[in-house]
Amino acid sequence: MSELRAKEPDYGNWVSMKLLYVSGLVSILLLCFSFIFRAFIVGAFLFISVLAYFAYARYKFSPRGGNVQAQIRELVLDRLDWDGEGKALDIGCGNAPLTIRMAKKFPNAHVVGIDYWGGVWEYSKSVCERNAGIAGVSGRVSFKKASASVLPFEDESINAAVSNLVFHEVKDAKDKRDVIKEALRVINKGGKFAFQDLFLEKRVYGEVDDLLETIRGWGIESVDFQDTSHSSFIPNALRLPFMVGKIGILYGKK
Ligand SMILES: C[S@@+](CC[C@H](N)C(=O)[O-])C[C@H]1O[C@@H](n2cnc3c(N)ncnc32)[C@H](O)[C@@H]1O
Repeated sequence: MSELRAKEPDYGNWVSMKLLYVSGLVSILLLCFSFIFRAFIVGAFLFISVLAYFAYARYKFSPRGGNVQAQIRELVLDRLDWDGEGKALDIGCGNAPLTIRMAKKFPNAHVVGIDYWGGVWEYSKSVCERNAGIAGVSGRVSFKKASASVLPFEDESINAAVSNLVFHEVKDAKDKRDVIKEALRVINKGGKFAFQDLFLEKRVYGEVDDLLETIRGWGIESVDFQDTSHSSFIPNALRLPFMVGKIGILYGKK
């Protein structure tokens, strides 16, 4: 155990190394081609700019660069007005940073993290379990492989649910509002929720006011929205729409 505690958790980075390798490789190829066809130099500079941008974003998201990722996650917990009694759920937990933060903040709670752990993400269930061990919360967290579109829980069986930057990614849900509905299904009456996602992206969720009305129509007692995209710790360069420029939190009580 003392050996585990000495180790650092691996919460990953929202800009994956795969993305940097691919843009680096394309840049090198285009540079090589530009010796034969000069026009390729334009593409090479384009990809070098993409590489530089994502390398900067990865740095800013990491602990060394200010941990913007962790600060964005913390906004979710700030909006979760929960007494910490019972069972909580972290939907799309990645390497479990939010699951573990919840377990630490609410010492009486059991927190379940679900994720499908696939695609381009460098996250896994085994790293979640290792991180929980390092944080000393293994006994109060558990992890399940599942899709956010069909949660493996009974109706109204969860006391609080959170999610951070997941719902827009759920490929097996055509309408991403259905993912919100599925998350709310498993929360009990009076249970609390705080979900952060690209809710300001109209092409995905429509107008925020309309989204709030729709959610109220599902019988949710209270739901509000906080625009978190302008949080002071987020550098302007990261406020592009495909990064964290369209984020906000839906929070309330079922
Ligand atoms: C930007 S990461 C966020 C991870 C974590 N919530 C955090 O704050 O670090 C998006 C996560 O969504 C997960 N994800 C994508 N589609 C999913 C689905 N259909 N069901 C569950 N998780 C999914 C990915 O595996 C990844 O862990």
